[in-house]
Amino acid sequence: MILPGDKSISHRYGMLAGIAQGVSKIANYSTGADCQSTLRCMEALGVKIERQDGVLLIHGQGLGGLQPAGAALDAGNSGSTIRLLSGILAAQTFTSKIGGDESLSRRPMERILKPLTEMGAAIDAHEGRFPPLTIHGRPLRAIQYTLPVASAQVKSCLLFAGLFCDGHTVVREPIATRDHSEIALREFGADIDVAKKTITVAGRPQLQGKELTVPGDLSSAAFFLVAALIVPEANLVIRGVGLNPTRSALLDFLAEMGAELKILEIAEAGGELTGDVLIRKSRIRGGALEGARTAALIDEIPVLAVLGAASENGLVVRDAAELRVKETDRIATIADNFKRMGLEIEVRPDGFSVPGKQHFHAAQLDSSGDHRIAMAFAVAALAADGPSVIENAEAASVSFPEFYDTLERVAE
Ligand code: S3P
Repeated sequence: MILPGDKSISHRYGMLAGIAQGVSKIANYSTGADCQSTLRCMEALGVKIERQDGVLLIHGQGLGGLQPAGAALDAGNSGSTIRLLSGILAAQTFTSKIGGDESLSRRPMERILKPLTEMGAAIDAHEGRFPPLTIHGRPLRAIQYTLPVASAQVKSCLLFAGLFCDGHTVVREPIATRDHSEIALREFGADIDVAKKTITVAGRPQLQGKELTVPGDLSSAAFFLVAALIVPEANLVIRGVGLNPTRSALLDFLAEMGAELKILEIAEAGGELTGDVLIRKSRIRGGALEGARTAALIDEIPVLAVLGAASENGLVVRDAAELRVKETDRIATIADNFKRMGLEIEVRPDGFSVPGKQHFHAAQLDSSGDHRIAMAFAVAALAADGPSVIENAEAASVSFPEFYDTLERVAE
C-alpha cells in the first residue's frame, strides 16, 4: 500500500512555495483537509495554485509578493496552518485575520504570540491567547529564542518569520522536534544552519521554486502498522513512507516492543528519507515512553495506547501533557473510548498507564471530532469481539480522507 503525503511536510512545501520565486511542482501533497486549508489560505493571499493529476503547481509570489486576503483566513482544524502561517503574516505590510473551527479556537497561541511579539509583531488574540488572531503586519527584527515547550510548530513559525528580518534568527530547542522546516528551507534555497539543537536562519534569502515529492505520512502509517500487529495472521508492506530520523522513533519503539518489521529501499528526496516498511503480526511485550521519546512520538500515542492494551505487559506514557492541547484533550478522549470498550486505563495529568492482555469489547465509540482518535479506535475496533460504531468518524479526513477505504482494502 501507498499512503498520502506527509501532513507536516505538505504544509511547509505549500507555504514556502508560495513565498518563493517561480513555480514549484509538488507531487503527493497531502489530501487531508488540514493541508487543503493551508493551500486555500495561500490562494487567499494571492498565490495561484493549479491542481493537475495529483500534482500541484504553485506560482510563488516571492518574499514580498503576498496580497491582503479579502476576508478572514480559515485554518479549519489545523494548528500547523495557523501557527506556521502567523510567522509569515506577522511580517507583511498588511493586516490579516486568521481563525478556524471550534477545536482550533481552544488551542493555545501564547507559544507563538510571545516570541513573535519579541520580534516586534502586533497581534490581537481572543482573550489574549486563542484564535482568531488579528495580525497587524509590520517589519520584524531577528531574535534569539529558546523554546519553552518542545514544538516544531513554534520553531517553524519563528524560522519563517526570520526569513523577513535583517540578520539572523536563532531558535534553540531543549528537546529536538521534527526538522521538516529546516530541510524544506534549505531545499528552497534559504541559508540555514543547524548545530546540535540550535537553528539559525538568515533573513531575506532568494527562495526559488522547486520540484518536490512529499513522502508518505509515517503518522498515518502508524494506524496500519498497529493494525498489522494486532490482527491475526496479518502482514503488510507500506511503500514510500517518510523515515526522517526526527519522526521515525515510532519504528524503533515498535521494534523494541517486539514488532517484527523490516525497512527496505531506503532513498532520499528533497532532503527527506523514505523507505518501504514490512511488518507482520508479532508478539508485543509492551513498553514505556517518557521525555524526548514521548515528544518524538506525540502524534502516534493514541494508536500506541490501543497497542498497549493488546500487548503482554501494557504501556506507560509520561511527560505527555502536550496531548491535552491537541485537536482534543487526547488523554481524555483516549480514556473515554477505552471505558466504552471496557478497557482499563489509569490517567494522570501528563500521561496514562494501560495494562496489557485486555479484552476489547465492541462498543459505540466517539472521535469527538479528532482525526487521530477516530483512526486509533477504528484499529481498536478491528480487535473487538463484534462490530463497533464510531461517531464523528469523518474527522479522519483532517489528515487522511482515504483512511476507511484503505483499511477495508488491506483488511481483506
Ligand atoms: C507538527 C508538530 C507537532 C505535531 C503536529 C504537527 C508540525 O506539534 O503534533 O501534528 O507539523 O510541525 P508541535 O508543534 O506541538 O510539536
